[in-house]
Amino acid sequence: KTAHRGSFEWSAPSNIALVKYWGKKENQVPANPSISFTLNECKTITKLTYEHKEDADRVSFDLLFEGQPKESFRPKIEKFFDRVAQYLPFLKEYHFTIDTRNTFPHSSGIASSASGMAALVMNLMSLERLLSPDMADDYFYKKASFLARLGSGSACRSINGSVVVWGEHAEIEGSSDLFGLPFTAEVHEIFRNYQDTILLVDKGEKQVSSTVGHDLMHGHPFAERRFAQAHENLSTTRKALTDGDVDTFIKIVESEALTLHAMMMTSLPYFILMKPNTLEIINRIWKFRSETGIPVCFTLDAGANVHVLYPENVAVKVLDFIKSELLGYCQNNQYICDEIGTGAVNL
Ligand code: PMV
Repeated sequence: KTAHRGSFEWSAPSNIALVKYWGKKENQVPANPSISFTLNECKTITKLTYEHKEDADRVSFDLLFEGQPKESFRPKIEKFFDRVAQYLPFLKEYHFTIDTRNTFPHSSGIASSASGMAALVMNLMSLERLLSPDMADDYFYKKASFLARLGSGSACRSINGSVVVWGEHAEIEGSSDLFGLPFTAEVHEIFRNYQDTILLVDKGEKQVSSTVGHDLMHGHPFAERRFAQAHENLSTTRKALTDGDVDTFIKIVESEALTLHAMMMTSLPYFILMKPNTLEIINRIWKFRSETGIPVCFTLDAGANVHVLYPENVAVKVLDFIKSELLGYCQNNQYICDEIGTGAVNL
């Protein structure tokens, strides 16, 4: 079947890892398994227009960001198309226009690679499904996650499900290094409406790209122990998520965030990605938690911003605390209120 011209539009969310992916092998295979919460508000919206063409020798595309030409994305997208060409043989028969926007502010320090790759892949899968209408839903989502992984590892956790495991783990049936596995059905009620308030401490460009970051784990003195620890932490997190054990969840999530940064501080070259305000915020969260008993915790990405995680039933109190005590440590008092979402959406 051929499709001559048309368009699709998908949104795909960002995600925040609880057990972190840091270090990879060939072909975007993670050095250890990870698990994340899918976000709801921070997302990329991508419209893909396709037009069948006569000369089917290579993929061709135009790139727009918020409706304006954006050539700086080209090398990354080209590399992605090269990697996925063998799985999507129809690609070279089309000319594409890829028009993208994010719901979060420019250079907010929130990475758009996961949401961006996920949104693009969903559109490509829609085209594949148009060409092969018998495609089963399960195949559609699995392949989408598989392809998103080839664009940006963590993007495979932004396709489908509220809680997603990526990477083979002995105790999690069906887990794979090649795609994300939705883990939602087993998650306790308390975690189903978790909130993530993202405090924008430093909105600058990332000091360390994730490609460089993952590379730092090659020959890292603590690499093997770290990879083993991630397996242990995933076992514990999995149990905490199923049992509704918020205390254990907090311990592991905060330890994972600090371990990610510890890996960067102990690699060669070494980096400190936290800012003084990151540490101020962490200390204030700890003080608030010990004084009130309210189960609020933090996690970090490979940057200075802080994700504040808490159940919805304490949201009013936590937001009061954030507004009165933490916003002063953010650039221009900026923050984003997000929460657990469900994955990519066909618009
Ligand atoms: O998907 P990448 O290659 O951008 O790596 C993401 C790495 C972290 O965000 C730091 C951790 C994670 O598991 O998402």
